Amino acid sequence: MTPARKRYFIANWKMNHRRSAAAEFCSSFLTMLPPGAASAGIGIAPSYILIPEVASALAGSSVMVGSQSVHWLSSGAHTGEISVPMLQDFGASFAIVGHSERRQFYGETSEVVSKRALAAIHGGMLAIVCVGEQERHFRAGLTQEVVEEQLRESLLGLSAAELPRLIVAYEPVWAIGTGLAATPEIAQDVHLLIRGNLISRFGAAAADISIIYGGSATPENIQELCSMSDVDGALVGGASLKAESFSKLITEGLAAN
Ligand code: PGA
Repeated sequence: MTPARKRYFIANWKMNHRRSAAAEFCSSFLTMLPPGAASAGIGIAPSYILIPEVASALAGSSVMVGSQSVHWLSSGAHTGEISVPMLQDFGASFAIVGHSERRQFYGETSEVVSKRALAAIHGGMLAIVCVGEQERHFRAGLTQEVVEEQLRESLLGLSAAELPRLIVAYEPVWAIGTGLAATPEIAQDVHLLIRGNLISRFGAAAADISIIYGGSATPENIQELCSMSDVDGALVGGASLKAESFSKLITEGLAAN
């Protein structure tokens, strides 16, 4: 990892946790954070409705609150969607976009993902853009092709000046929620591929983009994953739901060389 790059550990709670569980999580999580956490990027993306609760519970800490998606317009006739200013009103500073569950189950195309990403970035949020191949692609040796295409199409219209607000998450779909994380070597290969693509498209400044891994990251495997030179942290589902496990994952991830 170059000095300009930062490690990020982002909790993606998906459609989990009710109000009381979220509040309990936050109060214990803040007491468990390792000393190095303030210089890393730690964030929690709860369901939209819990953003105010989580934001107020984390107020004054270095932990960011974010959303699991965001619309590209600031208001209008878009039932079920939420906009950048609405999220920012409640302190959300980042948005995950293009998660594979949005792509797979809700028909999100990379073109839509790029609109969401640009809106978040233009509005001053960090955008965590997710890419990753499905198991059938992995088995057929199509990882590179799929990831390169998703990356290209999910960052349409982005300029080099906007790169400081971009994080890319590599999430192989076959590793998400399966308990079967990618090996550190697989993650490193794909992260390096992503970094190479970003550098050839945006220039040398793209070397500083944080590229995080997602898919069954745990306190047990994170240190090995983060010891790879192009793995800059993790987007964490299951292991982020309990304060003990997410804080341990952060501690272990930060301890990697
Ligand atoms: P997982 O989910 O950690 O439960 O595999 C990761 C994700 O979907 O972002």
